[in-house]
Amino acid sequence: MATLRDEVMINGMRLRNRVALPPLTTNYGSPDGLVTDGIIQFYGERSKDVGLVIVEATAVRSDGRIVQGSLGLWEDGQVAGMARLADAIKKSGAAAVVEISHAGARCFPGGGEMEGASPSAGFAFRPDVTPFNMSLTQIDSMVSDFAAAVGRAADAGFDGVEIHGAHFYLISQFLSPLTNQRNDRYGGDARGRATFALEVVRAARERLGRDYPILFRLNAVEKVEGGQTLEDALVVSRLLADEGVDALDVSLITQGSWREVDDRRFLVPASAFPKDEQAGANVPLAAKVKEASGLPVIAVGKLGDGPVAAESVHDSLIDVVAIGRQMIADPDSAGKILAGKDSEIIPCEECMTCFASLGKGIPMVCKVNRNLPGVSPSP
Ligand SMILES: Cc1cc2nc3c(=O)[nH]c(=O)nc-3n(C[C@H](O)[C@H](O)[C@H](O)COP(=O)(O)O)c2cc1C
Repeated sequence: MATLRDEVMINGMRLRNRVALPPLTTNYGSPDGLVTDGIIQFYGERSKDVGLVIVEATAVRSDGRIVQGSLGLWEDGQVAGMARLADAIKKSGAAAVVEISHAGARCFPGGGEMEGASPSAGFAFRPDVTPFNMSLTQIDSMVSDFAAAVGRAADAGFDGVEIHGAHFYLISQFLSPLTNQRNDRYGGDARGRATFALEVVRAARERLGRDYPILFRLNAVEKVEGGQTLEDALVVSRLLADEGVDALDVSLITQGSWREVDDRRFLVPASAFPKDEQAGANVPLAAKVKEASGLPVIAVGKLGDGPVAAESVHDSLIDVVAIGRQMIADPDSAGKILAGKDSEIIPCEECMTCFASLGKGIPMVCKVNRNLPGVSPSP
């Protein structure tokens, strides 16, 4: 029976324990996608106890950023800063992985050929980005951009990469029946919709070699009408395992709301549970993904709260727990959980101020933690 304190290996990458920091977009990068002192401070404070740090969504192209201050690996000049970040994380004893992403139709509107890139043009997420239907040439070129970016991540000294296939960013838009209405080989059933994701993984594997850890983040379910089901996610997870992915980071869309502007509808999806959801509600879904794929899984969703994290690992339902918002509020949460000092945790209030700050385009702030590198919210 495993405990949270036990180490685990993922394709040769050693995690000293079973607690991870999941990817958290901070908007602390520079407007050119470069690592800043604020980034180093944020990750430094959160690397000292966990086994794994997954650095926030890092763009493969400048037009694939989630926010203006997203990190980037779209050009060689970004490698030195990312090397400083990887080094800081590894010096703290955690394995360093970076999440590689293109935001597709959910991108920051800063211009660029692929701003609004989508499997199908008909589905928008924000009024200031117009989705367009990617041509086959553009899909090929995007696959190459992912391969180049993972290569730069390895050059920067990261121990592994995580391909961002969740949360309705580009790869997830291809995977979801809600946003992918293509009738070529990139659309259709779950297998067809996985074609783009599999091509990205294949290109990444070719660039990185068999011994380099590749993780993939996917939605176990999309709790939005017409969204991806668990059954679809299980099909995809098997295909990813066959393609040589080393571990799955199982997230989900917890809910979606619709916004109307000038008679046009936009989906605002959420990747974190609301206050009334119980801790660890994603664990049973992640356990199904583990069973179907045969791969180690990371689960996420209010796992910094109570005994669920330890129990889920102990019962071998999942392999690693990721703790997001609670680690923003109290960067010592993981250390306190590992030391059995849960009562000393400064609780996250689940107020979503962190998300809201990104929505406003400002550096991430937290109502509980006033020591973040970004600006402090007004009381
Ligand atoms: C402010 C904020 C930024 C996030 N940014 C990312 C991101 O860049 N990539 C990603 O895959 N998930 C992102 N997430 C989702 C988290 O990784 C995590 O799945 C989610 O917060 C649920 O975990 P929790 O309940 O422990 O907070 C973000 C979440 C928050 C709160």
